Amino acid sequence: MPLDVLYGHCDHADARFLKLHVRLTDGAHFEPEAAAGFRIMELMRAYGLPIKAECGGACVCATCHVRVPEKWQHLLPPPSDEELAKLDEIAGADEQSRLACQLMMTDALDGLEVELQPDSLIAQTNWVAG
Ligand code: FES
Repeated sequence: MPLDVLYGHCDHADARFLKLHVRLTDGAHFEPEAAAGFRIMELMRAYGLPIKAECGGACVCATCHVRVPEKWQHLLPPPSDEELAKLDEIAGADEQSRLACQLMMTDALDGLEVELQPDSLIAQTNWVAG
C-alpha cells in the first residue's frame, strides 16, 4: 500500500520489492516496502515513519539525518559536496551519517539498514507506521 502511493506519481509499477530496515534510536524496528528508484526518505515517509525531511528532499534542511552501519558504506555513493556541507551543520554527525533524501534505493542495497537520528525525528506521541 505505501508504495502504491508513490507509484501513483512514478512509473515503477513493475519494480520488485526490496528490503529496507529502519531503526529508531529507541530500538524500534520497521521494514518499509522498498523498490529501486525511490529515495530512502520517500520510502520512510510513505510508510508513515516520523522523519522530518522538512525541505522535501532538496538537500537544504538536514532533517533527514540517518546513520548507515559500516558494512553498507561501500555500497553507497559518496556524498556530494552539497550533502557534506549539510552534514557538517549537524551536531554529532559522523562518518556513518547521511541524508536519507540523497540516498536512492537500488537492487544492490536490498536489505539496507539505516537508523533515523533523533534530530530528524518528528516529536509525536501517537503515529502509526505501515
Ligand atoms: Fe531536507 Fe533531506 S529532506 S535535506
